[in-house]
Amino acid sequence: MVKSSTSTTQEQSPSGLPIKPIPGNYGIPILSPIYDRLHYYYFQGHMGYFKSHVVKNNSTVVRMNMAPGIFISRNPRVVAVLDAKSFRILFDPSKIEKKDIVTGTYMPSLSLYSGIRPMIYLDTTEQLHSSLKSFSFHLLASRKSQFIPTFLEAYSSLFDLIETKLASGPVEFNSLNQSSAFDFTCNAFLGAVPSEVIGSSASNKVAIWLLLQLHPLASRLTKFIPWPIDDLLLHCVPLPPCLARSDYEALEEFFSKAGESLLEDAANKFGLSRHEALHNLIFMTSFNANAAFKIFMAIILKWLVYAGETLHHRLAHEIRSAVKSSNGTITLNALGNMELTKSVVLEALRLDPPVENQFGRARTDLIIESHDTAFRVKKGELICGYQPLAMRDEKVFTNAEEFIPDRFVGEGKKLLEYVYWSNGPETAAPTIGDKQCPAKDMVILVGRLFVAHLFLRYDTFSAVHEGMLLGLEPRMVFKSVKKASDQ
Ligand code: HEM
Repeated sequence: MVKSSTSTTQEQSPSGLPIKPIPGNYGIPILSPIYDRLHYYYFQGHMGYFKSHVVKNNSTVVRMNMAPGIFISRNPRVVAVLDAKSFRILFDPSKIEKKDIVTGTYMPSLSLYSGIRPMIYLDTTEQLHSSLKSFSFHLLASRKSQFIPTFLEAYSSLFDLIETKLASGPVEFNSLNQSSAFDFTCNAFLGAVPSEVIGSSASNKVAIWLLLQLHPLASRLTKFIPWPIDDLLLHCVPLPPCLARSDYEALEEFFSKAGESLLEDAANKFGLSRHEALHNLIFMTSFNANAAFKIFMAIILKWLVYAGETLHHRLAHEIRSAVKSSNGTITLNALGNMELTKSVVLEALRLDPPVENQFGRARTDLIIESHDTAFRVKKGELICGYQPLAMRDEKVFTNAEEFIPDRFVGEGKKLLEYVYWSNGPETAAPTIGDKQCPAKDMVILVGRLFVAHLFLRYDTFSAVHEGMLLGLEPRMVFKSVKKASDQ
């Protein structure tokens, strides 16, 4: 497909871009992957690490090592795609295989999932992927009417608690949100509240199970452990899955009972075995939904704090007017009339997508194009996208590093094509033939609900962003809230 220019020896891609070798290298075996891992987690941070490779190589498509590097990874070598154009290669299932790759260069033990490979690890060519994805669409459609009431139930309690605790000092949002996010997600999907059925430790059980899968991607377990020990604990050997066995058994029991009718649907409508369906239901609810929502809400708070009171007043005005016209209740219709609120949620997702990295393996020899250059990738090479940089591409977004609340209002909607948090453009809808998040619409709904709920309760609030928890989630601490003056 590649043609040669007659006037020069420079090869060109089908769209006419010069094909060049991919810059960057993997350094010295063993030593460089460790050195790079330390920079990624401790010395530069995720963003600093990727940016430094772009600057050093003057290219947004670069060869580099990806953390966690040797000992846990099979092979840390990747081709990173770091601009809005090259990143899109990862959305093409005909070119990219996504088998056992969601966590990148390592794969958690399947004993954490009772031996199955959850849907997120399946490639689109596997028959089971389409059955499970159809099941996920069914789950989301059949429970849709429960999303608003279950959200309001969980988050009204959360903010009641925050208000009570504020009387005696600042309140960390994240630890309280851990339980609310899990209660909300289970109640929305299954109609049962885990903290009531399993007890107050329900969300801790999930947190331990999540840590055993994700620890190679996390860092800074606590501020009391120095980084060399943190690195040794989290990034050098897989933590034994048996540490989560009893916690997972408690989840299994809860999901078997509360999910009974969904499990029957899975068997009768989608031909799934009970074992396959049960462990996928646990995974979808506790990992895909719960873990991502927990991070997502902290991210929205972070940007609301950063934007300050002027935005809070604008949001309160928009939200309260829309709810007033909807007989005083938050409905889908009312949310549909909150354009600024939606834009704020999308802008937070653009700057800080909760799932930062996407991976895929080249199915065949390929050509990847950045804005001005094309590159050859060999069959089997691992491609790694880092969304926060791809969505801060100055060639697409003006003042790309800035949080602009109105960015996606009116004409700005044209830019939605370059918002990738769901592993696909915001303008596309997920299908059984791709790997885009099936809950794309639910996520935007929940983000809007979170902002709407906040500004129906409060005129404004003050909170601080104090570093990151496990390197994955902004730690947000509430200082005060100002109750809504017109409620
Ligand atoms: C803020 C919330 C969420 C974010 C940021 C998010 C993000 C993502 C991303 C980036 C992927 C693609 C991963 C990859 O292949 O590399 C994905 C896939 C997936 N997500 Fe979500 N997600 C969220 C919420 C949810 C919820 C609520 C569900 C519940 C059903 C869900 C279910 C899934 C499933 C099942 C897949 C695998 C899709 C497939 O294999 O085709 N996600 N999500």
